[in-house]
Formats: sequence, structure tokens, C-alpha cells
Amino acid sequence: MFYENKIWMANDGDEKLCMIPGMMNRHGLIAGATGTGKTVTLKVLAESLSDAGVPVFLADVKGDLAGMCEPGENTEDMQKRIAAFGLDREGFAYRTYPVQFWDLEGKNGLPLHTTVSEMGPLLLSRLLRLSDLQSDILQIIFRVADEQNLLLIDTKDLRAMIQYVAENNAEFSAQYGNMTKQSLNAILRAVVSLETQGGETFFAEPAIDIHDWFRRDSDGRGYINILDARSSIQNPVLYSTFMLYLMSELFEQLPEKGDADKPEIVFFFDEAHLLFDHATPLLEEKIGQVVKLIRSRGVGIFFITQNPADLPDAVLSQLGNRIQHALRAYTPAEKKKIRAAARSFRENPAFDTETVLSELGTGEAIISFLDGNGIPSVVQRAKILPPQSKLGTISESARKYQVSSSDLAEKYNDFFDRDSAYEFLRRKNAVLAQAAAEERAQQEAEKQAEKDARDRDKENAKKTKRYQSAAGSIAKTAAGTVGRELGNAVGSSVGGKFGKKIGGNVGASLFRGIIGTLFGGR
Ligand SMILES: Nc1ncnc2c1ncn2[C@@H]1O[C@H](COP(=O)(O)OP(=O)(O)OP(=O)(O)O)[C@@H](O)[C@H]1O
Ligand SMILES: [Mg+2]
Repeated sequence: MFYENKIWMANDGDEKLCMIPGMMNRHGLIAGATGTGKTVTLKVLAESLSDAGVPVFLADVKGDLAGMCEPGENTEDMQKRIAAFGLDREGFAYRTYPVQFWDLEGKNGLPLHTTVSEMGPLLLSRLLRLSDLQSDILQIIFRVADEQNLLLIDTKDLRAMIQYVAENNAEFSAQYGNMTKQSLNAILRAVVSLETQGGETFFAEPAIDIHDWFRRDSDGRGYINILDARSSIQNPVLYSTFMLYLMSELFEQLPEKGDADKPEIVFFFDEAHLLFDHATPLLEEKIGQVVKLIRSRGVGIFFITQNPADLPDAVLSQLGNRIQHALRAYTPAEKKKIRAAARSFRENPAFDTETVLSELGTGEAIISFLDGNGIPSVVQRAKILPPQSKLGTISESARKYQVSSSDLAEKYNDFFDRDSAYEFLRRKNAVLAQAAAEERAQQEAEKQAEKDARDRDKENAKKTKRYQSAAGSIAKTAAGTVGRELGNAVGSSVGGKFGKKIGGNVGASLFRGIIGTLFGGR
């Protein structure tokens, strides 16, 4: 509950235990065994932040956070709690909160989409469960796309790009290093498998504009952005990779900000242990860096998990505000984890943390918040306040109404498919295919022309032969006639055999001249 500019979370006896809004960007942890009150604690915290004018983003893995858009119900249990905390004197009221639902699949909230290039090769490799080698190749594919100004928006762009690199593998391998056919095939198969699991719907436009999470209602209360993760949690890698992506978006898009009296936004990461399952050392290192640096952007991150031991030390050591619900220990390994969780708190001489940790009831916790100087308080045993909005979930029709009546509905429901790598490469292939077809047609035409010419030559040669033989006999006859006549004439003047001989040669050469003129210039 937002109270005297502080976030009143719990009571230790009569003492109010409050978080200082200016310390919320020092992050936090809400841990505890199942059913011990983590979700209710998260609800109380989110409501208080909203009242303080701070928007929040949280993932709802069970659907029981949706109740924040409806007022709390005046049950007997609630009346008892209100009386126990003296809340009726402090302005507690059952009330609704400004809520915006989001959904990766676009069914139970506005579609929360992104593009392949926005997600980047590192997170995408995790999503596709690629090996280190395949991940390196994916980075090259992204680089080629960048250098050729090809947009990678959806999974069909990515598939087209992988195929393009595979088709021109020799050229790209020479430029960037060897990419085996098997690796490219494996990446392609991983993309197809992601599509089969419904992954193709997450990569689309319009992509999420995280600035839409920063809205406030007319009373100045921050919006509570709820990502419906009931379905996506079935695929833990998908869920955690998207959450990590959203976290990194906040880091990349928000400007650097000095210390402030309250955070810009607080991000709640439920089932946070999933983030570190199958995480490579590189990814773990990156997560650690983001958590460390995001503070300066005015972003607070709260990790919610069953046991703090689920988180790596590099992350755990950065979580300044801690609410630890009961932990149950049945095996020596579990007892060891309780001891470790207890030791992470500043000891309180009034009680033994380890013992108390296993004794806490539902809605109880051990707590340590950062004071105004950023120093963690000694651990305190406390009862968490009840929420002002409804405990549990809402009806599907109420949810549908919330989603469809949102001011952002038009913006996010209006899908578009921009010209990107897939379309460009399809066009390029079509142009190449057309050019190849034209070249083939040209070659065919040339071949045909040559053949025609050869046939004509043959035909002409035959004709020539025929003419020659015909001409030969005509010439002989004609020459004979002419020669004889000439010879006769000459002979009659010159006399005898000599005149006949000259007449024959002259006649033959005269005929060759005529044939030459008829077929000349071929
Ligand atoms: N601070 C509280 N005020 C009122 N009721 C509470 C409080 N904390 C817990 N409860 C009650 O306990 C129930 C279980 O709490 P909650 O759902 O928060 O547990 P959880 O730790 O989130 O469990 P899980 O790990 O299964 O998600 C709630 O439905 C509610 O009835
Ligand atoms: Mg819960």
C-alpha cells in the first residue's frame, strides 16, 4: 500500500515495514515454497507502485494476477486481515487498478511481438537451442543480412536468409569462415521446429514499443502491464528468452538516469529460475551485466522464484530488497539451501533466521529492505499486507472486455507484413530465374540459327553440285556448239583442227563466268 510516500509492504508487530521507492532500482527478490504467498506479495507491491505513479510489467504464469483489474472481495479472511493491520484507519479500500494485458500469442492480451533482428542472434540462439558453433553461424547470417540491408522480421525471413547463405555458401564461407552444410541445415530445422511450436506468431509487426508500458491513468496511477504467460510457460525456454529480451529492451531503449525519488518502471520476473536453465556462461554473464547496468536507467527488477539458490550468485548479490517466504526442507540438500538463504540476510539477534524460515505461515515472510543509504536492514519477521484488488483471476469475458477496450487495441491488432528479406530474396530469385530463362532461350535461338545456316549451306552445296553438273553438260554442249560454230567460222577462215580447239575453251570459261555471277556473294 502506498503510504506517506513509501511502499508499505508488511508489519512486524505494530511496526510498518516499508520499501523506499528511490531504492526500488536496487532490485529485489521474492522467494518461497509453493503456496506461501509470493504472488500476493507481488500483487501488493505492484499495486503500491501503481499508486505511486510507477508503471510495472509482470508476467502472469498462473493467471492469478489478472484480478488486479477488479476490486478485492470483502471476505471474512480479508476483514480479519484488515482489522489486524489497522488498515481501515489508513485509507485501505477495495479498488481496481489500471491494467493492460499482453500476450505473446495475442489471444489473452494485446499481441506482444518483436522482430527477428530486434531479438538478435544471441537470444535467438537460445530460443532455437543452437550449439556454440551454430550460434556463431547465426551471427554470420545476421551480419550478411545487415550488410545487404535485408530486414529480418519474421521466421520466414530468417529461413529465406539461411537458404540464401547456404546457396552461396562458398562465397560467404570464404569471407567469414567455414560454414558447414550440416550446421546450416541444423539451424534451418531449428527454425522450422520453432514455427511448428507456434513460434512464427511471436515474430511479427507491429513490434512492441516498450514506451507503451509507461502510461498512467487519469489519476496519475501507473499502468500494471500483465503478460499472460499461462500458455508460453509451457515452453520455458520461449518464456524466459522473451522475458530476457524485454528486460534487455528496457536497458537499450531507456536513457541513462541519475538517482531519482522513484523508478521509471519495475519489472517482475516470475519463475525466474527458468532464465538460468540451459543458459550458457556467456548468457549468464550478459544477464548479470544487464541486471547491474539497468539500475542506472531507473529500472527495478524483481525476481520471483521458489528458492534463492535457483539464481546465480552474480545476480543474487545485486538484489537489495528481499522478501523470503517459508522454505520447506525434507532432505539434507534442501536444509543446506535453507541455511544459505538464511545467511544471505543481516542477522537479527531477536531470532534465529534459519529456524524461523521453515516455520513461517502463509502470507508471512522474513524481510530486509534497503534504507535511504542503500544499506540492507537487519532481517525482520513480518506479515504481508493483503491486496486491495481481487485475489485470484477474472472471467474470460471480463478479460476480453479489458483487452478489446484498450486504447492501444487498434495499434497492436493492425498487423502488417513489410518488405523484408523473404520478399526481397524471393524477388531476387525470380529475377535470376527470369534472366537464366532468357539466357537459355537466347542460346537455343542461336543454336537453331546455326543449324539453319548449316542446313542451308548443305542445301546450297547440293544445289551447286546439281547446277554444276547440269551446267557442265550444258557448257559442254554449248561450247561444243559455239566452238564448233566459231571453229567452223574461224576454221573456215583459219582452217582445220586449230580453229576447233580455241572455240571449246572459250565456250567453257564463258559458262563458268555465268554460274559465278548467279551464286556469287554467298
Ligand atoms: N498477504 C496475504 N494476504 C491475504 N491472503 C494471502 C496473503 N498471502 C497469501 N495469501 C493466501 O494464500 C494463498 C496462496 O498464496 P499465493 O498464491 O501468493 O502463493 P504462491 O507462493 O504464489 O504459490 P505458488 O508458488 O503456487 O504460485 C492466496 O490465494 C491467498 O488466499
Ligand atoms: Mg504464485
